[in-house]
Amino acid sequence: MIIRVTNLRREFTVGVETIRALAGVDLSIERGEMVAIMGSSGSGKSTLMNILGCLDRPTSGTYELDGKFVSGMDEKELAGVRNEKIGFVFQSFELLPRTPALANVELPLLYAKQPGDRQARAVRALERVGLADRMDHRPNQLSGGQKQRVAVARALLTDPALLLADEPTGNLDTKTTEEIMRLFADLHDEGRTVVIVTHEPEIAEWCTRVVRLRDGLIDSDESVEPRR
Ligand SMILES: Nc1ncnc2c1ncn2[C@@H]1O[C@H](COP(=O)(O)OP(=O)(O)OP(=O)(O)O)[C@@H](O)[C@H]1O
Ligand SMILES: [Mg+2]
Repeated sequence: MIIRVTNLRREFTVGVETIRALAGVDLSIERGEMVAIMGSSGSGKSTLMNILGCLDRPTSGTYELDGKFVSGMDEKELAGVRNEKIGFVFQSFELLPRTPALANVELPLLYAKQPGDRQARAVRALERVGLADRMDHRPNQLSGGQKQRVAVARALLTDPALLLADEPTGNLDTKTTEEIMRLFADLHDEGRTVVIVTHEPEIAEWCTRVVRLRDGLIDSDESVEPRR
């Protein structure tokens, strides 16, 4: 089991109102699964992903990641876990706009305890995603699909067991979406655990399991035969 959450709740307070983004989620994910998280807008998908990615903490409930209870950790410990175990890919890429692709990819290792040969690893990650010829380009000199590849390379840099992606193809056209999904599928076939938030059934088709959220709770959870 790489992920186990129990009775996970996340509430936000806005003025006098309390918003229950997650209302008691129980979810376990085995190593090597490729999971699609679906559900309508506002159902809690990003809130769940941010907690799974150690970017946010639950109001209550437990989160066990790779055998460690991360729900009790402080910010600093969380940052360490995030760096070591998780690669996160966002819809909006989140790259530094004026920084070349190679330096963008190296970023996670700036904070790592054992950076090793940062640049050599970043070069390998960029080669892995098919961007060997674009290392010196800045994000504004790259297409949307290429930008997302840079973001995937950055997520792969510390060789994390878990890859999380929140609508990674939300800003991409159909053909580029297909390319990025093939990349995620390859990374999954190499043994990584992948969790992807999506609105699109065509993306869920690549996954081995589809979990649907509704009003902050799991509405359905089914295993499916993945497209390859
Ligand atoms: N930082 C926040 N402060 C207050 N409310 C929030 C915050 N983040 C999320 N929410 C609320 O929590 C609920 C779940 O939001 P979340 O972003 O998880 O939805 P989502 O399923 O990712 O939606 P979408 O498909 O539109 O991205 C929504 O009602 C949202 O308004
Ligand atoms: Mg969202």
